[in-house]
Amino acid sequence: MKILAFFNNKGGVGKTSLAYHLAWMFSEKNIPTLAVDLDPQANLTTMFLDEQKLEEIWLDGGERTIYGSVAPLMSRVGDIAPPHIEPIAHNLWLIPGDLTLSRFEDLLSENWPKCLDSQEAAFRVTTAFFRAISIAAKQTKAELVLIDVGPNLGAINRSALIASDHVLLPLAPDLFSLQGLRNLGPTLKEWRKGWRKRYDEAPQRKDLELPNGSMTPIGYVVMQHSTRENRPVKAYQRWMEKIPEIYEDNFLDPPSSSQSTPDEYRLALLKNYRSLMPMAMENHKPMFSLKSSDGAIGSHIEAVKSCYRDFELLASRVSEKLKIPFTLSKRTLNVRGSYSKSTIIPTSLPGAFSLKKSTDGQYYFTLSRGNGETILSSELYKHKESAIAGIESVRKNSLRADAFEIKKASNGMFYFTLKAMNGQIIGQSQMYSSESHCMIGIQAVAASAFNSNLKDSTS
Ligand SMILES: Nc1ncnc2c1ncn2[C@@H]1O[C@H](COP(=O)(O)OP(=O)(O)OP(=O)(O)O)[C@@H](O)[C@H]1O
Ligand SMILES: [Mg+2]
Repeated sequence: MKILAFFNNKGGVGKTSLAYHLAWMFSEKNIPTLAVDLDPQANLTTMFLDEQKLEEIWLDGGERTIYGSVAPLMSRVGDIAPPHIEPIAHNLWLIPGDLTLSRFEDLLSENWPKCLDSQEAAFRVTTAFFRAISIAAKQTKAELVLIDVGPNLGAINRSALIASDHVLLPLAPDLFSLQGLRNLGPTLKEWRKGWRKRYDEAPQRKDLELPNGSMTPIGYVVMQHSTRENRPVKAYQRWMEKIPEIYEDNFLDPPSSSQSTPDEYRLALLKNYRSLMPMAMENHKPMFSLKSSDGAIGSHIEAVKSCYRDFELLASRVSEKLKIPFTLSKRTLNVRGSYSKSTIIPTSLPGAFSLKKSTDGQYYFTLSRGNGETILSSELYKHKESAIAGIESVRKNSLRADAFEIKKASNGMFYFTLKAMNGQIIGQSQMYSSESHCMIGIQAVAASAFNSNLKDSTS
């Protein structure tokens, strides 16, 4: 069982929306998933449950929420109670959140230093969330647990993160978000270290299961809905370019010495799904499952399909990081025909074409993106004019939905080709370890080729 928390102390970046949609996606992919709402705002719970169910649960004295599970600790009468598990769908469960959970904050703060004195009661409080989750995961046989937390660095979140094996950071590409990242990385490191110190002091008790507290960051998701629409593209690009470095400096331990590709930790760039989101909330469904009866008609139909692909690809990247087997659907994999412009990252960093000469005097070109990574290479041309025509052809055809084709190499790796209208291959990618990485490569070519300038190094 893997536990993943969605964390950023900045509010409104999309933690809850991500947790909600990924929980649905993983459950659809036959991965038994338990969603846990540890945010006292309880937004995740209101996304999953309709008003009638909420009333039932919340007016029930809190017994059927996460608060009900930790309540015996609050009244100091004993240990946690097994948490209530709300079934949502096949392979999907929720431990509902509770506004009352904020009352637990003080008890957690009080007990954190007491762990250093090996006090068993202090460990029971500090690990309450982890142990409640562990009980629920065993009962449901969940393979994946997704935790949503509130936007702060308080004791509830420290305890939620200690319960987590992994952390995913949703963020907005703006100054405040990036400043926030600089505080977030060190905070995670401090919590991890603080827990290790306490872990070593813990009393050995069979009935006191302790988390590792590894809270390993698996990467970030850039959420475009949180950026101002009228902001100049340049400002947006500047922040986008800065994220990988800030992430590596603050979250990797030790910071990465080699330049990794931006895609290694950028798990996705999610667009603003606009009216799909309120429609999803109203229907208590993920955006990618909306039907015409929910109001998804006309242009929404294509948007729903594109949203499905976006979340399927994101889920596949997350499962890769968590080492959970995951298969992409044929409709996402089948680039030809199904790949549409709507999946293209709208404002990506422009790349550059380089025209080069091989040792035997022939010409070829490469397309690289902002960070210098080559994303497409041509074949060899005898004449320079033909190579330049090839570049023009790449520019034009990169905008065609069915010009890309994913292929499997004999060594099991994946690559894609870009074809002209007449079927001639005009570019080929590097090798990728997975189909989802390959799709991201396609997105990069599709988003940057048309606007990339040519650098001629042959004359
Ligand atoms: N990709 C998206 N497209 C459109 N709207 C979105 C998208 N992601 C999130 N939103 C909307 O943005 C708002 C904030 O999102 P969300 O509640 O998920 O953020 P959060 O980080 O959980 O906030 P908090 O810190 O308050 O818990 C919500 O109204 C949500 O519906
Ligand atoms: Mg939230």
